[in-house]
Amino acid sequence: MVDTGVPCGYLGYADRMSLPFELLPDTRRTAPEQRAQMMRDPGFVKHFSDHMAVATWTADQGWHDSRIENYGPLGIMPGTAVLHYGQEIFEGLKVYQHADRSTWLFRPEMNAARMMASAERMDLPQLPVEDFLTSVRNLARVDREWVPFGEEMSYYMRPFMFADEVFLGVHSAARATYAVIGGPAAPYLSDGMTPVDIWVTTTYSRAGEGGTGAAKCGGNYASALVAQHEGARNGCSQVLFTDAATHQWVEELGGMNFFAVTSDGVLLTPPTSGSILAGITRDSILALAPTLGLTPQVRPISLSELFAGIVEGDICEAFACGTAAVVTPIGRLVHKQDQEVEVIPLTSAVGDATRAIRTSLVDIQMGRAEDRFGWMHKVEG
Ligand code: PLP
Ligand code: COI
Repeated sequence: MVDTGVPCGYLGYADRMSLPFELLPDTRRTAPEQRAQMMRDPGFVKHFSDHMAVATWTADQGWHDSRIENYGPLGIMPGTAVLHYGQEIFEGLKVYQHADRSTWLFRPEMNAARMMASAERMDLPQLPVEDFLTSVRNLARVDREWVPFGEEMSYYMRPFMFADEVFLGVHSAARATYAVIGGPAAPYLSDGMTPVDIWVTTTYSRAGEGGTGAAKCGGNYASALVAQHEGARNGCSQVLFTDAATHQWVEELGGMNFFAVTSDGVLLTPPTSGSILAGITRDSILALAPTLGLTPQVRPISLSELFAGIVEGDICEAFACGTAAVVTPIGRLVHKQDQEVEVIPLTSAVGDATRAIRTSLVDIQMGRAEDRFGWMHKVEG
């Protein structure tokens, strides 16, 4: 093991200068007609905007060389560490355009903090919260024309960081790149009104005790793909994972948190133990629930309680939530039991609680409802 010898954490650079993330000259501008065409049917970021934010970290200099430059190749060598050992983390957040054409970020400080936590777990350098915020704000400002207006439309931002030292020895990064890219996006799974079918796996695990489930790192998603493929073969668009040790407890989906709603108005979600990602949408829904007459309850949910609750009518709605997915109703749970595929139907239409939660959240994000929790950050200029 090679020790870089330098503390890579935030505190190690407490007296450092902030990163400016300024726009480099000679930048690209897509022609307005071409951009309008790309934004008409954006899918989930089928097209990236003109620019990206980039900064470099080295063990001897810390964070430096921040910039906003043209979106383009990062130019890594085949021997770059991330390609071999997967030392990579990422975030996802959205920019919304309000009716007065102003643009807004939703709780970006939460993404900044979570990225620091992910970096710590993956032994990558921590980017200070203020630098994360400058990078996303400046990119949102420079590419403001790429932020679509319309129901459920947004500009999705993907901050990420990877070990880009060129060396095949296994050790913590001595050099890392942080970047933010993004583009116009419609919701990831459905329009929020159409329920999706979910494959429940008790074969594959997404995360285990002491693993990386609570970090937003690429490996968690790579290891979930085989289950996602299995789900797709069974007509499902996402996978609900259970705990790795016993496969008896509901955890989360491959890229979203899970909620169930009981017939007496209790909103249930499992606790974000070390194997579940602490979703910002999840946290927001837990805060909104009481304002909608729902009782939030964070507690373990067993698979047998979930299945029996649905069959007996005690659980009447379930949904997936996340930045990309927003709030997506679950129509059916599909599960393989003793070689038989079992289908547990929940609903064919969006339920009242799911609809109320989605509307309440989206109304705040779109500037149609009072931002009583102070979640929205205006992108100035
Ligand atoms: N769980 C996983 C595994 C995710 O990838 C995501 C998406 O970011 C979420 C949950 C939801 O998190 P958030 O609401 O912060 O987007
Ligand atoms: C997000 O919601 O931001 C994610 O990263 C999830 C991914 C499935 C797109």
